[in-house]
Amino acid sequence: MFRIFSGLVFVSVVITCFISLILEQYNTGEHLRRSLHSPNERKKRAYSLGNAPPYPGADDDNLLWFVQISDIHISRFYDKSRISDLEKFCTETIDAINPAIVLVTGDLTDAKTENKMGSLQYEVEWQAYNNILKRSRVLEKTKWIDIRGNHDTFNIFSLDSVSNYYRKYSVHQKEGSFHYIHQTHFGNYSFICVDATLKPGLKQPYNFFGILNKTQMQELSDLATKSFSSNLSVWFGHYTTSTIVSPSPGIREVMSSAVAYLCGHLHTFRGLMPVLHSRHSQGTLELELGDWMDNRRYRILAFDHDLFSFADLNFEEWPAVLITNPKSALYSNPVVEPLGKIQNSTHIR
Ligand SMILES: *[C@@H]1O[C@H](CO)[C@@H](O)[C@H](O)[C@H]1NC(C)=O
Ligand SMILES: *[C@@H]1O[C@H](CO)[C@@H](O)[C@H](O)[C@H]1NC(C)=O
Ligand SMILES: *[C@@H]1O[C@H](CO)[C@@H](O)[C@H](O)[C@H]1NC(C)=O
Ligand SMILES: *[C@@H]1O[C@H](CO)[C@@H](O)[C@H](O)[C@H]1NC(C)=O
Ligand SMILES: [Zn+2]
Repeated sequence: MFRIFSGLVFVSVVITCFISLILEQYNTGEHLRRSLHSPNERKKRAYSLGNAPPYPGADDDNLLWFVQISDIHISRFYDKSRISDLEKFCTETIDAINPAIVLVTGDLTDAKTENKMGSLQYEVEWQAYNNILKRSRVLEKTKWIDIRGNHDTFNIFSLDSVSNYYRKYSVHQKEGSFHYIHQTHFGNYSFICVDATLKPGLKQPYNFFGILNKTQMQELSDLATKSFSSNLSVWFGHYTTSTIVSPSPGIREVMSSAVAYLCGHLHTFRGLMPVLHSRHSQGTLELELGDWMDNRRYRILAFDHDLFSFADLNFEEWPAVLITNPKSALYSNPVVEPLGKIQNSTHIR
């Protein structure tokens, strides 16, 4: 009896340690306040205060907005409304919001067997995803960027495998990290994808963590350097940085010039962590987005005069409101945003 009991205690201690490791950084407020008030941070802030015109005013110029969704998990066995709701999202919601870009941060399909214990790539799930894109004609309305999550790589032992349906049915179709530069007449904006999925893709549950090797880190570092000439950079990927294993100096350091890193993967941690927002010690915000699968979450993000803002919303809850000026102080990044423009702005936007 005692042995069983101490065994249980041991298992729960291990599980608790594991969860706190993954969630280690998600204690938003305190950490942020500390970092904003450290002398180092104040110094950097003084250097980077942008106070040159134009300022946020009455017209809608110098404003770029985009959308993120994550962890759709289209399944041949469960909850068919994931599919019909996504089609509605691609028509009604996207038409109403009219974003320049939509980032889909992985786990497009569920790829689990009916008893949820095994994993397998099902072509019908990928066809369902592809049909939504076709029927809604969403690709004609916006730039759609869909990347792979761990579920999209289950049981793919080689990228050339016929069951690598991502190559056939997604929009982006290519594996690996990449850099997309969105050009506007008021500036250039960098979107850098971190692909940490495993090659070969293992069965579930063996790919909960992503891995980046030295070569891949160097590639990302080169992309970061190229993005320095953009007004702002956003990085995005499927895994949270706490679930990516990477060689020194680590993935957070490599993305430190980004205003934010957007990801998914943890869903809402079974409802335990409905909001997973944090800040790296380098200043970059890490914004995990809850899943489409069970919670129908999506996010609107904006650069307004190079001030970054976002709102996490639920599908079909209207009105969808994002205040871009004055932006939230809690989510300010004085190193890369011209926060001085808020003082000279004339309108709440
Ligand atoms: C954006 O990038 C293009 C191509 O590199 C460059 O010609 C243009 O001047 C840039 N625009 C701004 C506003 O920096
Ligand atoms: C790193 O990973 C990439 C992509 O999987 C692979 O092509 C490359 O050979 C790996 N490099 C090293 C040094 O392991
Ligand atoms: C983007 O950067 C360019 C070059 O530094 C600058 O002229 C432009 O005003 C910036 N755009 C915005 C919206 O601040
Ligand atoms: C911007 O605000 C500063 C003080 O906050 C002021 O000195 C400056 O004249 C303002 N510039 C413009 C163009 O309004
Ligand atoms: Zn997922």
